Amino acid sequence: MNKLKFNTNFFGKEVLYFDEIDSTNNEIKRQGNIGAVHGLVAIAERQTAGRGRLGRSWSSPDGDGIWMSFLLRPKIKPNAASMLTLIIALAVRKALYEVSGLDTLIKWPNDIVVNGKKLCGILTEMSTTTNDINYVAAGVGINVNTEKFPKEINNTATSIRIECGRQILRETLIEKFGEIFEEYYDEFLRTEDLSIFKEEYNGYLANKDKIVKIMGADEELTGTALGINEQGELLVRDSNNQLYVIRSGEVSVRGIYGYV
Ligand code: BTN
Repeated sequence: MNKLKFNTNFFGKEVLYFDEIDSTNNEIKRQGNIGAVHGLVAIAERQTAGRGRLGRSWSSPDGDGIWMSFLLRPKIKPNAASMLTLIIALAVRKALYEVSGLDTLIKWPNDIVVNGKKLCGILTEMSTTTNDINYVAAGVGINVNTEKFPKEINNTATSIRIECGRQILRETLIEKFGEIFEEYYDEFLRTEDLSIFKEEYNGYLANKDKIVKIMGADEELTGTALGINEQGELLVRDSNNQLYVIRSGEVSVRGIYGYV
């Protein structure tokens, strides 16, 4: 990857480039623990232990995608941090649109999807002291130029290359993401909730008004996804008209007919 040139205030002011690493999220956590700066970015050509949410692995083949994490030190309450994931999803969505013209949707809380398949996943992890956030390690994986996926994910994964029929420069997308993310991030810090983004997010919500299955560690719920509230939680109404508020932590969401 060529050296990145960011037109930003903090994002990517320092960048660590790796040919190979276990996981860029792991690297950002290591850096976070030794006092690295807000906005530090780590990027790898391939990850040997790429991780997804809920302990899943993340396929990160050589040079085909954006495997990137960044360090944030937001001065917000720890329970507001999960909303950052939704903000990152909005920023990825917009950057993708501006750079490739692809009009993607968001599968709550943080997958970017197009034509019912996943193009990007986001993993945010947090280190806290008693009442404060020490740092957030935010990881973004975008399938950019992948042409073939391993068969386990072939039916649910896609790439920009597959959807647009052309290659795009990873550097351009990352630089655009940095700029757009900073705008969203600064706005978010003003309210520490999603009140100003709720409508926009719901407008892109792939599951909106669709029947979804919410799978928790030991419970399952089927109902209609109504949209998010100002805390970024998903509102779901079941067939008995009972309203549920779903927190993103440990649940996975599926459409009843497929992945979205
Ligand atoms: C998910 O969809 O469950 C989240 C996937 C997040 C993948 C990215 S790739 C860069 C960063 N490093 C990791 O190990 N994971 C994230």
